[in-house]
Amino acid sequence: MEFMGRDVVSIKDFSGEEIEHILDITKKMHPVAEGEKKSNILEGKVLASLFYEPSTRTRLSFESAMLRLGGSTIGFAEPDNTSFSKGETMADTIKMAESYADVIVLRHPNEGAAKLASQFSSKPVINAGDGAGQHPTQTLLDLYTIKSEKGKIKDINVVLVGDLKYGRTVHSLSYVLALFGANLTFVAPNLMQMPQEIINNLKEMGKTPALNESLYETISDADVLYVTRIQKERFPDDEEYLKVAGLYKVDKALLKNAKENLIVMHPLPRVDEIAFEVDSTQHAVYFKQAKNGVMVRMALLGLLLIPDFDGGVI
Ligand code: NCD
Repeated sequence: MEFMGRDVVSIKDFSGEEIEHILDITKKMHPVAEGEKKSNILEGKVLASLFYEPSTRTRLSFESAMLRLGGSTIGFAEPDNTSFSKGETMADTIKMAESYADVIVLRHPNEGAAKLASQFSSKPVINAGDGAGQHPTQTLLDLYTIKSEKGKIKDINVVLVGDLKYGRTVHSLSYVLALFGANLTFVAPNLMQMPQEIINNLKEMGKTPALNESLYETISDADVLYVTRIQKERFPDDEEYLKVAGLYKVDKALLKNAKENLIVMHPLPRVDEIAFEVDSTQHAVYFKQAKNGVMVRMALLGLLLIPDFDGGVI
C-alpha cells in the first residue's frame, strides 16, 4: 500500500483495504491528538489550507492535526482577502500554493474543483468539500466513529436523513457504508432525496437502499441515525428551500421509539434538525465525531507526507 504523494479527491480513490489501514493508523494518533504525547514527525512540512467556502471543523481540525505533528500551516479562510478578489483563477492560486507548501487542503463551492486543482498541483491535494460533490475526509472520520462506537460496519442499519441531494457528506459516506456491508435507508422528501446516480451505484454494489419520507417509520430499526443540515446555500431559490426547511427534527420524543444503543451522528453545523435536549442523551455522538476529525486527518497527513508511515509518532 502506497499513500505517499497521493491526492484525496474522492473516497473512491481508496480501496476498502486502504481505508481500513487509514482507520488503524487513526487509532494510534489518539495520544497525540489529545495532547498527551508530543510529536515532530511533520517538522519542516507546510500545509496550505485554501478555503473558498465557510468552515469551522474541517479547517481547524486539519490545522490542528498538522500542528500537533510538528508541521506548519499557511492559508486563507476568506478568499475575498486574497487575489481571488482581483480576478485570479483558482488554478493560478493552486500553482502558487504548491510552491509554498507540501500538501494542499481545498474547499470550494464548485463540484469538481478538487479534481481540477489536483491536475494543476504536483503536491497532494485533499478535497475538503467541493460543492455538493464529495467530502472524503469527513467520510473517514464518520466511518471511524461508527466503527469505534458500534464495533463493526457490516449488517448494521444506517438511516441517513435530511438534505441527501446537496449534502456532500452523505454522498461519500453512503458509498463506503455499502462497501463495508451496512444496510442503508435514505429519509428525505423527493426534493432532497439522494441523487439517482448514487442510488444506481449502490444498487450495482448489491446494496439497494430503502427510500422513505418518514423518520418515524424508520427510527426503530436504526443502529445509526446520520442527520444532515439542509444546505440552504445550494438551493436554487428561497422558495424551494422553504418547502423543506424544518421538515425533520430529532428530539427526545422521536428517540423514545429508538433502540437503546442507537447513535445519532451529524457532520455539524446543525441548525434546528437536532434539538439541544438530545445532547445529554446516550445517543448523541456528534461532538465526539467532530473530535475524531483531528486523529483521522493526522493519520492521513502522515501517510501522504512520510514514506512508509506506520503510525509511529515520535
Ligand atoms: C459539512 C460540510 O461542509 O459539508 N460540514 C463539515 O465539513 N463538517 C456539513 C454541512 O455544512 O452541513
